[in-house]
Amino acid sequence: MTYDITTDVLVVGAGPAGLSMAALLAAYGVDAVTVTKYAGTAHSPRAHITNQRTMEVFRDLGIEDAVREVATPNELMGNNVWATSFADPEIARLLTWGSGPERRTDYDLASPSAMCNVPQHILEPVLRAGAERLGADLRFSTELVEVSQDEDGVTAVVRHRESGRTETVRAKYVVGADGGRSTVAEQLGFAMDGEMGLGAAANVWLEADLTDYTAYRPGTLYWMCQPGNDYWVGSGTWICVKPWTEWVLLFMYDPAEGEPDLSDEAVVARARATIGDPDVDIRIKATSLWQINHMVAERYRIGRAFLAGDAAHRHPPANGLGTNTSVQDAYNLAWKLAMVLRGDAGEELLASYHDERQPVGRQVVDRALKSVQDMLPISKALGFEPGQSAEDGQRALDGLRAPGPVGEQRRAQLADAVRLQNYQFNAHGVELDQRYASGAVLDDGTPWPAPDRDPELYHHPTTHPGARLPHAWVEKDRVRLSTLDLAGHGEFTLLTGIGGEPWADAAGKVAADLGLRISVKPIGAGCEYADPTGDWAARREVGDAGAVLVRPDQHVAWRAHDLPDDPAADLERALRSVLDRP
Ligand code: FDA
Repeated sequence: MTYDITTDVLVVGAGPAGLSMAALLAAYGVDAVTVTKYAGTAHSPRAHITNQRTMEVFRDLGIEDAVREVATPNELMGNNVWATSFADPEIARLLTWGSGPERRTDYDLASPSAMCNVPQHILEPVLRAGAERLGADLRFSTELVEVSQDEDGVTAVVRHRESGRTETVRAKYVVGADGGRSTVAEQLGFAMDGEMGLGAAANVWLEADLTDYTAYRPGTLYWMCQPGNDYWVGSGTWICVKPWTEWVLLFMYDPAEGEPDLSDEAVVARARATIGDPDVDIRIKATSLWQINHMVAERYRIGRAFLAGDAAHRHPPANGLGTNTSVQDAYNLAWKLAMVLRGDAGEELLASYHDERQPVGRQVVDRALKSVQDMLPISKALGFEPGQSAEDGQRALDGLRAPGPVGEQRRAQLADAVRLQNYQFNAHGVELDQRYASGAVLDDGTPWPAPDRDPELYHHPTTHPGARLPHAWVEKDRVRLSTLDLAGHGEFTLLTGIGGEPWADAAGKVAADLGLRISVKPIGAGCEYADPTGDWAARREVGDAGAVLVRPDQHVAWRAHDLPDDPAADLERALRSVLDRP
């Protein structure tokens, strides 16, 4: 049988997951074709919070600076404000996304990259340009209509939406990065675990100059909670798209009562009520409806097919994990496909994609839903109840400011409810500490270090096999680099130290034996990379003469605490195990 297109990897979808996959596969020299239904990248803001781990992936891809250039920086993300309207007195505030003084150091110490706010319609063109620069073959207006697989490959039919012409595709693997209504998942029998339609929301993208109300308390999210509103996340959440003139106004609605009125008149009225200043001009750019889901694919891989991004996990935007998890899925899978296709690894390496990422997906969808539920105590503390009249709601709110023990108790209750929001807005452990246990990691038999702080709120760096490589600043030729910069780039890296010279010979021998590239990076006084502050020595958890083997996705594959008698034999054993090489 002849096919119109033959390729090694067919990527379906060019959202954050598909574009990242396309860029990474291109960077690793894989022959891949990416098809996407729409004529261009995202046409509206949607996801926006971009966390440190995702920025680290972009850093490895060489596009971190380009993303930062179009993003709102971390310094302008911090103030999470609750009020009845922008013009009204504030009810509560939490410093978020690591920007408050209590958390800033944690975030600074953890990563070379800062979190930023970059709406999806602004991020995707940067990702697209990066992918194309790396040579990715992206085909827009090309919809996957049929896909099936057999033992040797995947067969697909794609339809060009402008001409209606169809083409057949044969690929060795397919990656379904085709979003929440994934055709790949549906046609290839991926079962989803969870529930759909747990809530319904409307996004209104608009222009309104709110500089007077926001520049002095810069932030990403402003929660407007008005009395008489039945919905516990408030009357409208304002999401900053462009400081301080472009926004998404998000509000929940009850689908049982029908779809909300999205006429300009109705949404301008809602916007005006939550701004609280009749003089602010409002221009509506677009509206859309979306659902809250809580689902994760039971399997991330079936045979030659993989799911990544929303195709695999669908959850509310709380914690801002949608796009982030999608990019990180791609980072986990791309190098494995590249190595298997090159013959550097056995097929079993691909099994580790499910084993490593499905538990992350599970955790992310559960965390996001819990964070939504955890907002209920805020409205309870405000004294709001479903079905309450605006007058009763206002009375309850007034009580919050009343002197005396009852008011004081209400204020304490509100403070507790606001503190709980750290699990949504300062969940550094959730953002950074994805830890893997699979065949692509060789455990060294030591226990994972016990966390000394809340593992969801705080990052715990460790070189335990399966962990993300800890960040520490090192120096070469007067240039400051992160330990993460020494790893990645599609290859294995061996980090060594003083007295670890024999590791270089060992790596050379093993690389030649296995036909792989292994980059050796010695760190320490007098080594190629200096550790001026001793931060790496403090974090590496192995001796000077030990070694840490890092995978192309910057997770630790294996480590040696000291120099063994035969470092080449140990290193080769580790790599053969991780790469499923006989
Ligand atoms: P995404 O849905 O972005 O992309 C899917 C891609 O697949 C598209 O390129 C599409 O063209 C393509 N495609 C689909 N079917 C195809 C087919 N049959 N053939 C070819 N191509 C096909 N998240 C968050 O973290 N914070 C937030 O505030 C929000 N807000 C938000 C609002 C709205 C309205 C939505 C719809 C979603 C969000 N999200 C969000 C979720 C976030 O947008 C989401 O997690 C990411 O876009 C997921 O990226 P993916 O690349 O997986 O899918």
